[in-house]
Amino acid sequence: MAVFFNELAVLIFYKKRDLQNHLLHLRKEGKRIGLIPTMGALHVGHLTLLEYIKEYCDVRLCSIFVNPTQFNNAEDLEKYPRPIERDIDNLKQAGCDLLFMPEVSEMYGENEEWYIELGELDSILEGAFRPGHFQGVTQIVSKLFDIVKPDVACFGQKDYQQYLVIEKMTRLLEIPIELKLCPTVRETDGLAMSSRNVRLTEKGRAQALIIYKGLIYFQQHIEHGNFERCKIKVIEMLESVPDLKLEYVEICDLNSLESLTDNATNETVIALIAVWIDGVRLIDNMIIHVEN
Ligand code: PAJ
Repeated sequence: MAVFFNELAVLIFYKKRDLQNHLLHLRKEGKRIGLIPTMGALHVGHLTLLEYIKEYCDVRLCSIFVNPTQFNNAEDLEKYPRPIERDIDNLKQAGCDLLFMPEVSEMYGENEEWYIELGELDSILEGAFRPGHFQGVTQIVSKLFDIVKPDVACFGQKDYQQYLVIEKMTRLLEIPIELKLCPTVRETDGLAMSSRNVRLTEKGRAQALIIYKGLIYFQQHIEHGNFERCKIKVIEMLESVPDLKLEYVEICDLNSLESLTDNATNETVIALIAVWIDGVRLIDNMIIHVEN
């Protein structure tokens, strides 16, 4: 009989109750639980979060749930890639311990009318172009935090506003959790990895590089007093790409995401871009130290 040592395995849970029972045992053993919430179609960006959280916990739990309440476009929800076998395989290879993969009915009941006051964060940038999106995100993430009660959870810088929203939610609801922000993982040419990239045509994939080029332009040129000029230049760069539909280009305060004008004195800012290419919505950002 063959005995396999180091067999790669990830324990999969479909039901909250089963997962909670398992976590109870782990907690009794004094294990720290780390959670990585995802919507699947995992790429190296997601797997890097798993690696990043490793030093802060003993057990790594990934959730895969394509959350319907955060999509404001039915077609986007329907077209969201769901390569589940490949995802499980990737999680095994990455050494993930547990996977939570509930059905929609396991996460949402009939009475889900609730709202969390996120202030400005809810209505600017992503909030302005995707009304209700962050209410859906907080709804599902608070449910996951409540089920798992993780010691630590990790989110990616690519969705920086989402991270700030979740940080605010944990403060408002007084959820005892440590949050970690993992830097954006990029393809070798600079395009931020995203589950949506697979929907780009070859031409669109090449055109999408302009987003990274725009961010690099900011990084190389931003100085106090020239924010507006830099923004105009980057908007020109983006609009020179045929078929690209621009949503926003902003230079913002790192904590509030308030848009900054030329007289801002911030030492560090964040540049954010959102566009549509090939019917695919792409976002990216870069944290930049401003030269005097
Ligand atoms: P999803 O888009 O699957 O992303 C899951 C996590 O991976 C998020 O924290 C996201 O910021 C991070 N991520 C995605 N691409 C990344 C990249 N290139 N580099 C670094 N991190 C990256 O974000 C969501 O799912 C959902 O809104 C969710 C939080 C799961 C709630 O449904």
